[in-house]
Amino acid sequence: MLRKKRLVSNLSGCWTYIAIILSRETSKYWKIYEIILLEEEYFMETGMTREEAIAVLKKYNQESFHLLHALTVEGVMRWYAKELGYGEDEEFWAMAGLLHDIDFEKYPEQHCQKAPELLKEANASEALIHAVCSHGYGLCSDVKPEHLMEKVLFAADELTGLIGAAAKMRPSKSCCDMEVSSLKKKFKDKRFAAGCSRDVIREGAEMLGWDLNELFEKTILAMRSCEESVNNELAAL
Ligand SMILES: [Fe+2]
Repeated sequence: MLRKKRLVSNLSGCWTYIAIILSRETSKYWKIYEIILLEEEYFMETGMTREEAIAVLKKYNQESFHLLHALTVEGVMRWYAKELGYGEDEEFWAMAGLLHDIDFEKYPEQHCQKAPELLKEANASEALIHAVCSHGYGLCSDVKPEHLMEKVLFAADELTGLIGAAAKMRPSKSCCDMEVSSLKKKFKDKRFAAGCSRDVIREGAEMLGWDLNELFEKTILAMRSCEESVNNELAAL
């Protein structure tokens, strides 16, 4: 007799499917004969609506630069979810992007440490909190990016800052006409946007198993996809 069970295995939102094989060869009672791990999947519930996420974002962030960054990383994560075959979890990917720096403006010394408290107040799920904290892995957090979404967030966060700064230097003030070759030059120039850590970008690409070209190309496309809507929403916030 085979029974398939779905159990929560950890707080980061990972569901585990197991098969329980029951036996009653010698007795009238069923006994557990074997438990087999079948598969694991992430269960991506945010615990909050986008309106609630915008409200908590605005509660802890007033600077236009931070709001622009949050909306940009949200749009980038939304593009990546669809691009990488996680369209059904698009809202989760997007919300992790929107809220990833929730604590940075008010608590820069406690970045990624204060975030769980602020997000719990807003009823965010444990999976969302895990994703947010993992983007500071090795810098201000010991929560390791596990899911592909978390690795993309880690890699793209810092890179969106570099692309945004490079876009400002262009006559168009946009990334819509930016090529990978031009971004590579800015990446190599350590004095340009010196606050954007090249090491973190490299580490992110490595985590994903992508070369820098692939990460640059995809992230430029992701930023192009949302540039206009992000600017419109920022103006309306
Ligand atoms: Fe960020």
